[in-house]
Amino acid sequence: MAFLELHDLKTHFPVKGGALISKTIDTIKAVDGVDLSIEKGEILGLVGESGCGKSTLSRTVMQLQPATSGKVILDGEDLTALPKEIVRQRRLDFQMVFQDPYASLNPRMTIFSTLAEAICQRHPDLKKSDDLTGKVVELMATVGLDSRHMRKYPHEFSGGQRQRIAIARALAPEPKLVIADEPVSALDVSIQSQILNLLLDLKAKLGLTMIFISHDLSVVRYIADNIAVMYAGKIVEYGEADEVFHNPKDDYTKRLLSAIPHMKATA
Ligand SMILES: Nc1ncnc2c1ncn2[C@@H]1O[C@H](COP(=O)(O)OP(=O)(O)OP(=O)(O)O)[C@@H](O)[C@H]1O
Ligand SMILES: [Mg+2]
Repeated sequence: MAFLELHDLKTHFPVKGGALISKTIDTIKAVDGVDLSIEKGEILGLVGESGCGKSTLSRTVMQLQPATSGKVILDGEDLTALPKEIVRQRRLDFQMVFQDPYASLNPRMTIFSTLAEAICQRHPDLKKSDDLTGKVVELMATVGLDSRHMRKYPHEFSGGQRQRIAIARALAPEPKLVIADEPVSALDVSIQSQILNLLLDLKAKLGLTMIFISHDLSVVRYIADNIAVMYAGKIVEYGEADEVFHNPKDDYTKRLLSAIPHMKATA
């Protein structure tokens, strides 16, 4: 059994309509029968155009959005079958990194407070202990930040540094799975590669397991072990990253490839 398994996962949204009596007039099949598996220490790249269901899939995996049907099995446990109370506890096992670190970090909290709070989610016993500072220093070093800056606020950092802080915060509760939703899309190209290399470094050092979401197949190819291509709620192609990139089978994947500017130029 793989570390994370999705079995025929569906997330459908009813579309309501009707003048007097509200009734379901249509269904948006945001996730429509997804089977995927991820091994421990693997980076799975999830690509597809806007609206294809990438974020809904990740929210359903994290149990933030209830599945319409299907299973999410993490480390042998079916999360879709757990009572709400236990699901809340398990949510700590999933942490997210978003596109805009500025929006996802609290502007009124120092980096120390942000990271300390995230560490204490898993280890409440560390609150107010001397060990907590040590943990924050260690975490900052892990993502390549100097701990001399830990009393600073998010606005005092550059975009790339802020994304490092967001990554540190995601790692703080020792998650089993990190879901990064377009984590480099808002960054300059030179900074993008620094963050991608950091994530690869963390995978090597910590055995990080990650779903890396992007609309950009060339970015995903750089970082992912395997790539799943999503189109209209379904996985239309799945395979080893280089294989999908160099030898795409599906027409939609071929179209995504031809949309990469430098690929077009050399075609
Ligand atoms: N809570 C919701 N209620 C109704 N429809 C929703 C909801 N969340 C998402 N959708 C719809 O589900 C589909 C998939 O949306 P989703 O946000 O998962 O796509 P995405 O691949 O993450 O897109 P993007 O690349 O723009 O982030 C879209 O048609 C969207 O409008
Ligand atoms: Mg999205």
